[in-house]
Amino acid sequence: MSASAALAANTLRPSHLIEDQSAVTEVVLNAMSETPNRRLKEIMQSFVRHIHAFAREVRLTEEEFEIGIDFLNRLGQATHDAHNEGILFSDAIGFSTLVCLLNNGQAGATETASALLGPFWRMNAPRTENGGSIVRSETPGPTLFANCRVTDPEGRPLAGVDVDVWQASPAGMYENQDRSQADMNLRGKFTTDADGRFWFRSVKPAGYPVPTDGPVGELLRAQRRQPYRPAHLHFLAHKPGHKTLITQVFVDDDQHLESDVVFGATRHLVGDYRKGKGAPPAPDVIGPWYRLDYDFVMEPGESKLPTPPIK
Ligand SMILES: [Fe+2]
Repeated sequence: MSASAALAANTLRPSHLIEDQSAVTEVVLNAMSETPNRRLKEIMQSFVRHIHAFAREVRLTEEEFEIGIDFLNRLGQATHDAHNEGILFSDAIGFSTLVCLLNNGQAGATETASALLGPFWRMNAPRTENGGSIVRSETPGPTLFANCRVTDPEGRPLAGVDVDVWQASPAGMYENQDRSQADMNLRGKFTTDADGRFWFRSVKPAGYPVPTDGPVGELLRAQRRQPYRPAHLHFLAHKPGHKTLITQVFVDDDQHLESDVVFGATRHLVGDYRKGKGAPPAPDVIGPWYRLDYDFVMEPGESKLPTPPIK
């Protein structure tokens, strides 16, 4: 290249030589300015602006920077087929709930029946007939009869909706965390009938602490935060032509209803778990039993399934 051509090229290309800390952000944004994917460019440039502003606001020290990088690395190292520490971190800082509320309820304009997916959904729950039980190994606790319905926003029943249900045991453990439970215990996949209904038998869930043996647990202890979630059932409703509905229905008398460690409990999602009176709906029920009636509304939209956080 001739000297004059090199000079011309240099005047066209923005300088990446950094003068001082105040210049870094613009130089980085310039370096990303030719990203062909417009959405990737928008997301990464905004991310850079915000994370640089964050470092300036708190005057981040080099030692704190190292702690932060180590924390991120350990989130990845603590993640495996049966546990997702990255999702747990996002949940514990309210980020999962924020993204959920921004993307549901007419893009955040109204209340929504959605809630965060959480780290425990598995893709291939066993297909179960309506009225069937999702108790697949001995699981002591009060029996629960759930009677649910799925409609569109106008209240018309939606038939043929696939609904995944998953929950913790009355001891507060998901089957993948607990060797005493059978594989896929307290998980099932149902299909709504012509009236949009699905119904099943289970046990009343209990609240549980999120896993605290990893970096997220360290953070919660450092922040003097309690690790419990209020008891809930998880649901994922899926039907082509409708936005996949991912949600949770919370037990109304749980002591942690208003202090959910992952901020998933919204007012709309408090269920009416009524203690049964008189003869139970099945003759083999021993001891107390509960009934939950709950209606779900699916919004129009794209029926995409999320990536399962665990296998
Ligand atoms: Fe859960």
